[in-house]
Amino acid sequence: MATTTAPEVKAETIPIYIMGKRYDVPDTLTIMKALEYAGYQYIRGCGCRGGVCGACATVYRKAGDYKIRTGLACQTVVEPEMYLTQIPFYPANRASYDFESLEPTPESIYKLYPELFRCVACNACSKVCPMDVEVLDYISALKRGDIKAAAEISFDCIQCGLCASRCMGEMAQYHIAQLARRLNGGKLTPKAQHLQEICAKIEEGAFDGTLTELKGLDKDALKKLYTEREMEPAMAHDSWKPKSSVGLA
Ligand code: FES
Repeated sequence: MATTTAPEVKAETIPIYIMGKRYDVPDTLTIMKALEYAGYQYIRGCGCRGGVCGACATVYRKAGDYKIRTGLACQTVVEPEMYLTQIPFYPANRASYDFESLEPTPESIYKLYPELFRCVACNACSKVCPMDVEVLDYISALKRGDIKAAAEISFDCIQCGLCASRCMGEMAQYHIAQLARRLNGGKLTPKAQHLQEICAKIEEGAFDGTLTELKGLDKDALKKLYTEREMEPAMAHDSWKPKSSVGLA
């Protein structure tokens, strides 16, 4: 059988500066891998390694450039003469609230985060966002009282905190946006009818028999059941249905 090999990627070694100290690292590495290559060990400031958790906010400058740049260490590839540091923690105000009793109104947000009105619309928050979230736009939406718009605009936020680190109004935009998304998802968006129906069925015990049966299986039987389960074909038509409806609503 013919085999194929992946093309070889040749890495050059380049100098980077981590917290002021020079290290020579392969130019194919992300900042996160370069830090490890240089001998650092992650205790915090690293979570998913996939650009989702927001733990690895990084600030850097490039040689001969005045501009402060930001990125996620797990996603940004090193460049020659990069001066960088990771922000392991940025102190940010996060309000405490009882979500159940909170009214889904702009006033609830204003009361918990009055600093929202300290925004001077400088847009530094949007410029540093590694997810290209239009932070100023969602803050402006909230100032207009539009919780739904703020929730939608901030949907890609990964809570890295870089917006707060640059804010002239000293607010933690990402915590405010999280509250907007909670209010929108939990209290403003109509509940899906089918979800309510299935929850009611679960509470009525419609699946108790199947669950008891599954709990009685040993590990191998469970594995077999799982690996041999019928799966929906990738290009299935909307009308596709599994042959067996055991355990389904
Ligand atoms: S480690 Fe999770 S976003 Fe970088």
